[in-house]
Amino acid sequence: MARIVIYDSGVGGLSIYHELSQSLEQLNGHHSLVFVSDNAAHPYGTKNDVDLIDRISLVALTINKTYAPDILLIACNTASTIALQTLRSQLDCEVVGVVPAIKPAANISQTKTIGLLATPVTIKRSYTHKLINDFAKQCRIVKVGSSELVEMAEAKLAGQTIELPRLRKILQPFIECQSLDVVVLACTHFPLLREQIAHVFMDSDRSIMLVDSGEAISRRVVSLLEPSMSQQTSLDLTASFTDVMSTEASLVRYLHKLGFADIEYLKI
Ligand code: DGL
Repeated sequence: MARIVIYDSGVGGLSIYHELSQSLEQLNGHHSLVFVSDNAAHPYGTKNDVDLIDRISLVALTINKTYAPDILLIACNTASTIALQTLRSQLDCEVVGVVPAIKPAANISQTKTIGLLATPVTIKRSYTHKLINDFAKQCRIVKVGSSELVEMAEAKLAGQTIELPRLRKILQPFIECQSLDVVVLACTHFPLLREQIAHVFMDSDRSIMLVDSGEAISRRVVSLLEPSMSQQTSLDLTASFTDVMSTEASLVRYLHKLGFADIEYLKI
């Protein structure tokens, strides 16, 4: 049995969970999966680097002590682009990060004009600049950093309706750039709004592909696991919050519906 922890600042980890659970279905076997939301320190995308590394490190060490994972999946671009190296030096489990899908986007773009949609700090990171330099040097990159969109994804999973005009305003720089044909969803919260984002582009008569890292990261995790002899897949699902008091009842209902039987409090 493999024990996998999916850690994000909030509900973004659930977009990765959706991808990973599908990949695990194909691998079979019995796996334990813990979704950790550091909602006490949410959002990460507006914090300075020093505070953020300290926080991520503290949460990761607590996760390691509490759940002893085989694989810790940092399901957060904002955290991975700043703290992966530190975490790998501090922990003895496998640490897998989620980073912006610049490379596949550059490969599939016909026009070599790509949109990068991320949190305000991910947009500015040297890790992100290096990805662009290494894999998309020939491309024009239109960058949008938005924390408002992170909050909209949180609100959606707490049962609220997404206002499309508000979403359109955030996406306007992409809509206006006529040559742009791909947008990278470089925050794990954003695939949770994929349908609404696609809707806004379609309504604006723009044919724009949306790319994220979820599937590639799930394949990477599965490649680290032993193939199982079992013909069936079973998952033990636990959700863990650093601030259980402010966790929306509708989000808890949603998690129960997904099969997360236990809701826990991770004391940091
Ligand atoms: N889900 C996180 C990411 O992938 C960021 C959300 C936040 O700002 O806390 O970047």
